Amino acid sequence: MAAYQTSPGTDVAVVINPLSNADPHPTPSRPVAAISLAELFERANLTGDLQAVERLLLERASSRSELIAAASTHTVRSGGKRLRAALALLSARLGNYSLPRVIHAAAAVELIQAASLVHDDLVDQASRRRGRVTVHARWDNDVALMVGDYFFALAAGEMALSPDPRIIGYYAQAVQTIVEGELSPVTVVEPSETALGQYYFKTSAKTASLFEAACKAGMAAGGGSEAQITALGRYGLDLGMAFQIIDDVLDFVGDEHVLGKPAGNDLRQGTITLPLIYAVARTGNPQLRTIVERGHPSDGEVAAAIAEVVAVGGVEAALAEARRYIGQAIGHLAEFPPSGAQRALIDVAHFVISRNA
Ligand code: FPP
Ligand code: MG
Repeated sequence: MAAYQTSPGTDVAVVINPLSNADPHPTPSRPVAAISLAELFERANLTGDLQAVERLLLERASSRSELIAAASTHTVRSGGKRLRAALALLSARLGNYSLPRVIHAAAAVELIQAASLVHDDLVDQASRRRGRVTVHARWDNDVALMVGDYFFALAAGEMALSPDPRIIGYYAQAVQTIVEGELSPVTVVEPSETALGQYYFKTSAKTASLFEAACKAGMAAGGGSEAQITALGRYGLDLGMAFQIIDDVLDFVGDEHVLGKPAGNDLRQGTITLPLIYAVARTGNPQLRTIVERGHPSDGEVAAAIAEVVAVGGVEAALAEARRYIGQAIGHLAEFPPSGAQRALIDVAHFVISRNA
């Protein structure tokens, strides 16, 4: 059962520690979100502005090519939580907020995210994302390659419409970093110092860097000072680290119907993540090592490995690490005076640690 509290000055109920009231048995349940992100956005008065971003994305998805238009619209409509766009908008609200000044930075981050996921699903040959068929599976590999490029060009167009040239720099840096992260796999489960070093590099590059850029871009669009932009960037980076760790935890303990993709995917694909690294460090269990080293595990082997990782506390330790990042992220917001936007960013951090999809 999750622990709920109302964050100061707001009536938004958030989970402060998904496992703190856990039953005496150490098996971690998957985190349970107290409220949906949509509800959080509604309470932060952000829904209308996010709908404007959504309309802009759909408008941009049109193309003279019927094929590109169909595949782009399919991708935008499978768009997910729009968390990154919300971060850009909320960051701008910490300064002088004007939707026309920040909307392009908010759209750009979602377009970069869409480009990277279309390409990622192509590389991984994943057939579904968020419960919907992927572009390369619905059309073909060539279309997915082109649509990813198309989104990337659309993102560049949005950046060019943004009011502060630093925004282009933040997103360009993030895209470079994402690509570096994508090509930096975690290759070992031990020694744990090596495995952890690889894991943290990859995670900060492939996921957290775009959260960082979204926050910096939003703050720049809101006219923030360099110090404010740096502080918000740190918030985004720590939030992104926690977000990816929770993603990796959900691969062990998530509900695949809620996730929209099969659980145990990472183990099946030989992807080494934090719960596994911690579990191996705790037990030195050679079977856990073998399953990722040998590859192509059976369903039974995957299920047994998941059970072992959970039983030895690998998931619990990863959750504790995610909570540590969330604490740090919220700490960076102390740079800003209390406001509705600051509270919403705190609530987003609580949401990230408690999300179940
Ligand atoms: C998802 O990771 C993948 C990413 C966050 C980044 C993928 C980046 C590229 C393919 C490089 C191209 C980048 C751009 C900007 C065009 P995952 O496979 O671990 O997670 P998943 O389970 O969501 O697929
Ligand atoms: Mg993938």
